Order: sequence, then structure tokens, then C-alpha cells
Amino acid sequence: AHALTADYIRSHIRTVPDWPAPGVQFRDITPLLQNPKVFRVLIDEFVHRWFDLKPDAVAGLDARGFILGAVVAYELNVGFVPIRKKGKLPYTTVEESYELEYGSATVEMHTDAVKPGDRVVLIDDLIATGGTMTAGLRLLQKLGAEVIEGAAIVDLPELGGSRRIRDAGLPLFTLVDYD
Ligand code: PRP
Ligand code: ADE
Repeated sequence: AHALTADYIRSHIRTVPDWPAPGVQFRDITPLLQNPKVFRVLIDEFVHRWFDLKPDAVAGLDARGFILGAVVAYELNVGFVPIRKKGKLPYTTVEESYELEYGSATVEMHTDAVKPGDRVVLIDDLIATGGTMTAGLRLLQKLGAEVIEGAAIVDLPELGGSRRIRDAGLPLFTLVDYD
């Protein structure tokens, strides 16, 4: 992405100190979503990146990945697949657990959400430890999909998540880094 585009997007992300816990700098994308010009610039960055590759589906990670992923899927004229936190999906599911700083979390996807060989893009808003996106990658791979790229607006490289995701073999596209 053009450096000016990344700066424009960065300037509409709000940092909230000490939320949800002391010492955390929360990177809040709601100002970006509220501004129709910057929201369109952001979505266009993602859409143009995959327009020629034409994936079979876009998968989004619960919850902020849904906001971005659904719009990108609509613009690419492909289906949208929600990867949800455990206990929300009604049909048969596959699930993957991953470690958080304290404890663990589980994400689920419907077993008919993708078919073997489907080429899928995986979207979230932010990469921290990378646990959420690598769990989503494993779910899609479990059903035989080929995940062609992961993407997020924000990377927190010091937490090592983007390195872990790339080490797991998934190319990753992000627009804005925060140390
Ligand atoms: C945040 C963010 C990513 C994830 C990144 O979601 O939206 O999904 O954390 O962290 P990781 O790289 O360490 O896995 P959160 O779990 O706060 O849930 P929410 O989307 O429901 O707010
Ligand atoms: N998810 C994990 N860490 C986060 C942060 N610092 N800001 C926003 N979302 C997050």
C-alpha cells in the first residue's frame, strides 16, 4: 500500500491507554469505521489487492473481522464465512483452541463453510499474538481450503504474532504497525 494511504488510515485509529487492562494500549478502529471516506479507502485497499486473484470466499474472524470481511466479500462478489467464538454456530462445526495470555480460547466454523480446494482470504482487524488468525488458518485447512493470504489493518509486531503467522506458512498483509 502507498505510504500516504497507510498514514491516512493510521490517523483514524484511536489509541485508548490502559484498556481493557492496565498497560494495554488499545488500538480502536471505530473512528475509522465512522468516517465514510477513510472506510472506503481501507476497503478499496483490500479489494484491489485480491480483485485479480478472485478468491472463492472471504473468511472473517469474530467480531471485528466480520465488519471488514463481509464488505470485502461483497465487493469481490464472493461468499463470506464467519469464524466464530465457540458456542455461537448452530450447525455441525470444526473447532480449534489457542492460548491466550491467561487461559485459552476456541473458535468454530461450520463444516460446510468451505470446500476442499477453495481459495480463501482470511481477515481480522488486528494481529497481536497471532493466536486468533493461526486458529482460523488451521480451521480452514482442516476442511481442505487453501488460505491464500491473511490480512489485518493493524499489526503489533513486538508481540510476535505476524512472525508466527508467516512461520505457519500464511502470507500476511497489514497496513499499519504500532510498536
Ligand atoms: C482481538 C482482535 C483480534 C484478536 C487479536 O479480538 O480483534 O481478533 O484480538 O489477538 P491475537 O493476535 O493475540 O489473537 P478480541 O479477542 O478482543 O475479540 P473481539 O473481536 O470480540 O473484540
Ligand atoms: N487485541 C489484542 N490486543 C489489542 C490491542 N492492543 N488493541 C486492540 N485490539 C487488540
